[in-house]
Amino acid sequence: MLFNFSGFSGQISAAITGSGNGLKKPSFKILKQQEMWQPPKIENIPKTPEGKLILYGRDLIANTAQYLGPKGSVRHISNGMNCQNCHLNAGTKIMGNNYAAVYSTYPKFRARSASQETIIKRISDCFERSLNGSKPDSNSKEMRAMVAYMKWLGKGTAKGETPEGTGLEKLPYLNRSANPENGRIIYKAKCESCHGVNGEGIPNPDKITFIYPPLWGKSSYNDGAGLFRISSFAGYVKNNMPFGANYENKILTDEEAWDLAGFVNSQPRPHKDQKNDWKDITRKPIDFPFAPYADDFSEKQHKLGPFQAIAAAQKQNNK
Ligand code: HEC
Ligand code: HEC
Repeated sequence: MLFNFSGFSGQISAAITGSGNGLKKPSFKILKQQEMWQPPKIENIPKTPEGKLILYGRDLIANTAQYLGPKGSVRHISNGMNCQNCHLNAGTKIMGNNYAAVYSTYPKFRARSASQETIIKRISDCFERSLNGSKPDSNSKEMRAMVAYMKWLGKGTAKGETPEGTGLEKLPYLNRSANPENGRIIYKAKCESCHGVNGEGIPNPDKITFIYPPLWGKSSYNDGAGLFRISSFAGYVKNNMPFGANYENKILTDEEAWDLAGFVNSQPRPHKDQKNDWKDITRKPIDFPFAPYADDFSEKQHKLGPFQAIAAAQKQNNK
């Protein structure tokens, strides 16, 4: 829960604790904004060969299409989007899907692949899904550079730690399903001017990169991407869209974020064969929209909700 009071903005978590005299008084643990993750400063990247590799990695995250898009200068292995389109400010924005905990938490077991995943594997996943393309060679300079950048970003984070403000916010579930028709109306009013009438985005005049990236259609992320799950999409847009929003200045309500997610993720997009994913179906996220499931809820309910009953059933199953 985030509050703003008297010009100071920070995170407060309140806990009611008993005190010795029998009176209950609230004790507040105040996490100042400074305790949010602070990315290291670019100026401090060492002027060494390693430093050059880190800077190249950063550039690849920010300007992926320039190097690796359909008209990229190095290889043509992705759809024209940039990693930064979803990992904002080159993966440094608070609640903007940042990379604060990549170096500290990988390798880690992930249920989607049912395996221990390295950073290289995780980067490859976003190439194959979010950028609907193919992965760079694991020994390529590009892969080494992106890993070096993530390692540098995470150098202040202790092993195993996930700092405050990492990744995407988990919004509370609505007690109804997401409403794509309502989402369409909000999209027209608040998103279409940048992302286009058909979600196609707006390319730069050079046609190599996008000014505003696509949200659906052939140049967008595929149906195996993380953003295709509406909880991820809703958490992303709530803190980051329309462009300019951030975790301290949110623009959309939770309902708008969920309805937009339902609308955008009901539009056509590239398909990815996912038959090898989620071998253990009891581990599928509740908003994963493709059967089979360990419960009896429909694909439609898994896609749009309501999710409370599914979450309760999953909890029961995993006991
Ligand atoms: C269409 C949006 C999108 C694009 C573009 C994208 N990603 Fe991702 N990425 C995601 C989502 C969503 C997640 C999962 C976040 C979560 O579940 O908290 C993710 C997760 C990751 C993670 C793991 C983060 C963690 O802390 O576990 C890495 C590493 C990553 N992406 C790298 C990349 C790289 C490199 C690129 C560019 C080649 C890229 N991503 C492009 C959406 C995207
Ligand atoms: C003023 C222009 C603008 C508006 C309005 C806007 N966006 Fe964006 N959006 C952007 C830009 C720019 C990016 C890429 C950010 C970057 O690369 O730094 C982006 C990225 C995204 C992404 C992740 C990348 C992708 O293409 O999948 C999603 C999802 C998204 N916007 C959804 C929305 C939604 C939903 C709305 C309406 C509530 C919205 N945006 C309104 C400019 C805008």
